[in-house]
Amino acid sequence: MLNGKRILLIVAGGIAAFKCHDLIRRLRGQGAHVRCVLTEAGARFVTPLSLQALSEDKVYTDMFSLTDESEMGHIELSREADLLVVAPATANILARMAAGMADDLAATVLLATDKPVLAAPAMNVRMWTHAATVANVETLKKRGVTFVGPNDGAMACNEYGPGRMSEPAEIVAAIESMLGASATGPLAGQSLAGRRALVTSGPTREAIDPVRYISNHSSGKQGHAIASALAKLGAEVTLVSGPVAVPDPMGVKVVKIDSADQMLAACQAAGQLDVAIFAAAVADWKAASPAGAKIKKQAGAPPPALELTPNPDILATVSRPGPQRPALVVGFAAETENLVANAVDKRKRKGCDWIVANDVSPATGTFGGERNTVHLVTAEGVEAWPTLSKDEVAGRLADRIAAQLGRPRSVKAAE
Ligand code: PMT
Repeated sequence: MLNGKRILLIVAGGIAAFKCHDLIRRLRGQGAHVRCVLTEAGARFVTPLSLQALSEDKVYTDMFSLTDESEMGHIELSREADLLVVAPATANILARMAAGMADDLAATVLLATDKPVLAAPAMNVRMWTHAATVANVETLKKRGVTFVGPNDGAMACNEYGPGRMSEPAEIVAAIESMLGASATGPLAGQSLAGRRALVTSGPTREAIDPVRYISNHSSGKQGHAIASALAKLGAEVTLVSGPVAVPDPMGVKVVKIDSADQMLAACQAAGQLDVAIFAAAVADWKAASPAGAKIKKQAGAPPPALELTPNPDILATVSRPGPQRPALVVGFAAETENLVANAVDKRKRKGCDWIVANDVSPATGTFGGERNTVHLVTAEGVEAWPTLSKDEVAGRLADRIAAQLGRPRSVKAAE
């Protein structure tokens, strides 16, 4: 995935710096070149020698080294990379980045760069939640810095909460997602330019009467993130969304619906597609005869019986073989038990090509939360992905879709 990519890894001073060894191994295992900048505080936790041995490259520490300046100035050091990764991103280095300081080599390189920056924060929970850090992170996000983590968990300082640096596998996934989604440096074959995509997202609402409905807890975060990731790779995306509070993604045509029947009609109206992804939580049933007026409570009478009837299965309908079928149909499986077995079965029953399986038990926080732990089920097998942000899941999925669909039609036609 990262063959030939050049990563400048900035290692700042935190106990999580030891995870950089594993991070470098993983990045190099994927074919990336890794060059390290180590801060003075970082050198208290890991040695230049260990980073040099793992990266098989010189480790840069000193802004005023004449040799370094003659071989490679700090501007060039930052510009010759495809991506800058700050891991661990301590409260201190985030503050210096936000303030635009250039008081050591790491800060100078970050200020001088014109390349995307990924930060993997790691610090004590109180430092992470302090108003100063919150404001610094906000500032950096507005300037385009991407964040992965931090995760919740037990800390070296015996406290518990957000502040643990993301695991190396999660950082690698974020790097893959950023480099794969980059408009200027896509991985070979990763463009979706010229492709037409449909995404469903959010819940449906099935009317019982004009004021009551059947629905579920879907927020639309996962489906909207997928629409956005596909658009970033150049696809022409139609997003059919149930009622959600998340904003419409940029560069995407959004069709807003309420019920499953309306969602099916909007999907069928989307025209010829290359790929369709069904992330919506469609209500399986609707009221058999929704009342035209509000059902009134009758004193002393038992509650009215609610007769249900099945909704159309949108995923199964679009998956049916025929000239209109998209080349790739991706369903989701929301399960609370036997996740993988149910998802494998669902892929066959619905006739789709891939299933993204996620556990939606309340304890997972998948519905409405920021993160998701998914398995990708294909005809070839089942892949377990690490816990990622929903944006990262979307980025990875978009990259996989682009790789599966291959080169854009216009390129093939020109040959
Ligand atoms: O919206 P978020 O808060 O971010 O949460 C994301 C999510 C949990 C909703 C999402 O990741 C997810 O799992 N979406 C699928 C939810 C679902 O309805 O799963 P299911 O196992 O019941 O359905 C299987 C597949 O069939 C899904 O692709 C679903 O969109 C589709 N379906 C289901 C019923 C139906 N009548 N028509 C359908 O197309």
